[in-house]
Amino acid sequence: MPSSNPPAPSSAQLEEVKDAVRALLHQPEYDDGSAGPVLVRLAWHSAGTYDAASKTGGSNGAGMRYEKEGGDPANAGLAHARAFLEPVKEKFPWITYADLWCLAAVVAVKEMGGPEVQWQGGRTDFTDDSKVPPRGRLPDAAQGSDHLRHIFYRMGFNDQEIVALSGAHNLGRCHGDRSGFEGKWVNQPTRFSNQYYRLLLQNDWKKKKLANGLEQFVYVDEEIELEEGEEPEELMMLPTDMSLLSDAAFRPWVERYAKDKDLFFAHFAAVFGKLLELGLVRDASGNIVNEENVEGGYQSAPKKSDTADTPRDQGKGQIGHEAAPLQKENEKFQKRKDGARL
Ligand code: HEM
Repeated sequence: MPSSNPPAPSSAQLEEVKDAVRALLHQPEYDDGSAGPVLVRLAWHSAGTYDAASKTGGSNGAGMRYEKEGGDPANAGLAHARAFLEPVKEKFPWITYADLWCLAAVVAVKEMGGPEVQWQGGRTDFTDDSKVPPRGRLPDAAQGSDHLRHIFYRMGFNDQEIVALSGAHNLGRCHGDRSGFEGKWVNQPTRFSNQYYRLLLQNDWKKKKLANGLEQFVYVDEEIELEEGEEPEELMMLPTDMSLLSDAAFRPWVERYAKDKDLFFAHFAAVFGKLLELGLVRDASGNIVNEENVEGGYQSAPKKSDTADTPRDQGKGQIGHEAAPLQKENEKFQKRKDGARL
């Protein structure tokens, strides 16, 4: 169906957006000093709802703008990522939220020292929540390898890809008020590396029960050089991370990625690129021909209002509503590493 909307943004337009994303990554007041990790998680959760059998879910649509998906407990905390990107959307109103969320993650991975991920634009934004996938499609960190296979095979990934994707846990941290788990996986959580696999193999991880009843695995790195007066921070692994060690098909990939950073970077770039394409159907020229795009072309949702008058959904105000308390909360985040570099 013909549409007056442009099919997709040009690469010159995208370069400008990438620059704007680069400029917002450094956030000294937030977590470990970078918005990068939570942006990577936003893109992953936007795409990771894909179900290959029904061809529903995936990175088209930016469904997390709606309470139905944004309010899923699995997505707790991702409002921070969406609020970080709101000024970029304001500056470049033509970009779709769906493209912006994915592109921001690609920029973040690269800026944090990771590989270049091939990326194509053209995602559209849903105009209502009727195509938002059901909740419950994202992984549960308290489970093991059977669950990981159940979730990731559904998206069309294999064992090697599951292990490579899990390497994103080089980045960022768990937050007690989001997932209930606590802490970071590696000492430098804003630098993309293969350290996650090395620590998985090297350290003697001990099970720890948190006050909320969740179990995670912890290790204190006594060797690490600390500033005077600084306490060593416990590192952590989720039960799903540990299952990569105990599973006979996953473990050889953990060992290979621990030894060979270049191999991990190449495989991560490929699999993360594949993740961000989930749910998109492209024609030979790269245009997305999903039903919702054919109807509307490159349909960019309006920027959300900054006034917090309607607390839910894409209608006016969701981001205003989301962002105002978050800004205050962000200010309260301890400057764990004041001015931490990306
Ligand atoms: C294998 C199954 C996975 C499970 C069970 C899982 C679970 C989790 C949990 C519980 C958190 C902590 C959230 C919080 O409290 O803020 C987290 C954080 C994170 N995850 Fe995963 N995840 C998985 C796969 C992935 C994948 C495939 C990626 C990306 C390719 C990814 C990227 C991240 C990042 C970057 C963070 C840090 C976010 C931040 O610092 O705010 N995860 N994950």
